[in-house]
Amino acid sequence: MTQTRVHAEELRQRIMTAEQAAAFIENDMTVGMSGFTGAGYPKAVPQALAKRIEAAHAENKPFQIRVLTGASTAPELDGVLARVDGIGMRTPYQSDPILRDRINAGSLDYFDMHLSHVAQHTWFGFYGEVDIALIEVAGILPDGRLMPSSSVGNNKTWIDQAKKVIVEVNSWQPEQLYGMHDIYYGTALPPNRKPIPLVRPDDRFGEKAFFCDPKKIVAIVETDAPDRNTPFSPLDADSKRIAEHVIDFLNNEVSAGRLPKNLLPLQSGVGNIANAVLAGLGNSQFRGLTAFTEVIQDGMLELLKSGVLRMASGTSFSLSPDGIQEFIDNIAFYRERIVLRPQEMSNHPELIRRLGCLSMNGMIEADIYGNVNSTHLMASRIQNGIGGSGDFARNAYISMFVTPSMAKKGQISCIVPMVSHVDHTEHDVAVIITEQGLADLRGLSPKQRARKIIDKCVHPSYRDMLTDYFERACRDSFGKHTPHLLTEVFSWHQRYIETGTMQKA
Ligand code: COA
Repeated sequence: MTQTRVHAEELRQRIMTAEQAAAFIENDMTVGMSGFTGAGYPKAVPQALAKRIEAAHAENKPFQIRVLTGASTAPELDGVLARVDGIGMRTPYQSDPILRDRINAGSLDYFDMHLSHVAQHTWFGFYGEVDIALIEVAGILPDGRLMPSSSVGNNKTWIDQAKKVIVEVNSWQPEQLYGMHDIYYGTALPPNRKPIPLVRPDDRFGEKAFFCDPKKIVAIVETDAPDRNTPFSPLDADSKRIAEHVIDFLNNEVSAGRLPKNLLPLQSGVGNIANAVLAGLGNSQFRGLTAFTEVIQDGMLELLKSGVLRMASGTSFSLSPDGIQEFIDNIAFYRERIVLRPQEMSNHPELIRRLGCLSMNGMIEADIYGNVNSTHLMASRIQNGIGGSGDFARNAYISMFVTPSMAKKGQISCIVPMVSHVDHTEHDVAVIITEQGLADLRGLSPKQRARKIIDKCVHPSYRDMLTDYFERACRDSFGKHTPHLLTEVFSWHQRYIETGTMQKA
């Protein structure tokens, strides 16, 4: 039997089963849960809750909760609750396939928001009261403070705001995580806000653990279950080419004197391409870099190990099973070089702007003028959510967006006349990169941007079609500043929906 991680003796009497803890959660409650990617999410109570919900539904009793998290979680949280139709409202970022299908079937209310906004909007009272905080931790310290686990997300806010707290103490989480976190308690509400005292990505100005009024803790559930993230795909040729374009661009910026030799703090988005760019940096000349980002993924561990990266600040790990093993095996090394903060800090516009982050995020599609869609397929189906991409894109020193030039085996061009949904406007997008090339849009007018994007980023199979559209728009458009043919702007998407390809017959 593993030794208990509940070191606060007076709290031990509140240790109970997941089923007993789940009984505190009732229909229509708002529950703030831990979890940011497949890291640090509660692993037992949501599953017990799903069974309760299923039983209630079998008796025709209503039972749905409002779920707030850090970001996406894992099948043991979003998946099980969505499967039993137990979620009435969900925010922010999600990526679970069952949850996504429910949202796209129109059967639950999902609203997507910038990850840096979630905590402050909750403090502002925009979403009503938080009934329960359900938080995974690595242990409870003798004085009752809660040791954060592999993600921080919005946990501080949920613990502070909730009327009751349920804690999952997961002994799978290494106790040596203690000391890696920096939980800032100095935030205040307007008009009393002060500058945040961070001027370098490695600055620490917070606490190692969460404060929690012990009277609010109604249940403690002990677990021993691993985090779960999907492994990254092996690097394909397109991702490698995208990574090469990014590295060339950064080298040119250094040569032009616009970036220092060790660059500025990197932010790297989620997914395989971001991981490939990190791998590319590993083969570059760069040394002593820093990261001020959201998730620490496998590629960052490799960069830390090789010394390319000096340190990384984020809010969560997003490691594959191999990455987790590497981290656990060398935890003493990594804990000196990684800081995990609440997401309101890791994604804070003030800090991103001050540090001058270099942001790199994936996208679904961009249009010829540089507007970017990160979230929707064919205008109407949500994929994941905006995540932190908007926090970084608008405030970065240079904001880059990456995508393969085509999706669905070439039936879709990821560069289109007009994006079918806008997450990042042309004003927030400095550079677009596909495997075809890189379009540096800084200082360009809309028509100059269109020519550059078509020339550098579009796949040859779609280049003539886009050139034709752009030339006709330049000739026939109502205005000639950002030329468009309004009856045609979404014809590419419509054609795909109707025929399965954006190519003309
Ligand atoms: N039109 C329609 N579908 C498209 C498409 C396009 N232009 N581009 C991609 N897709 C489809 C893919 O075919 C795939 O579908 P499938 O799941 O049925 O195979 C799906 O969209 C996901 O594409 P994929 O290439 O696997 O995505 P990815 O893992 O590279 O992630 C984003 C790309 C944009 C979805 C992802 O980066 C994201 O969610 N970004 C928003 C949040 C963010 O940037 N966070 C980082 C901040 S730190």
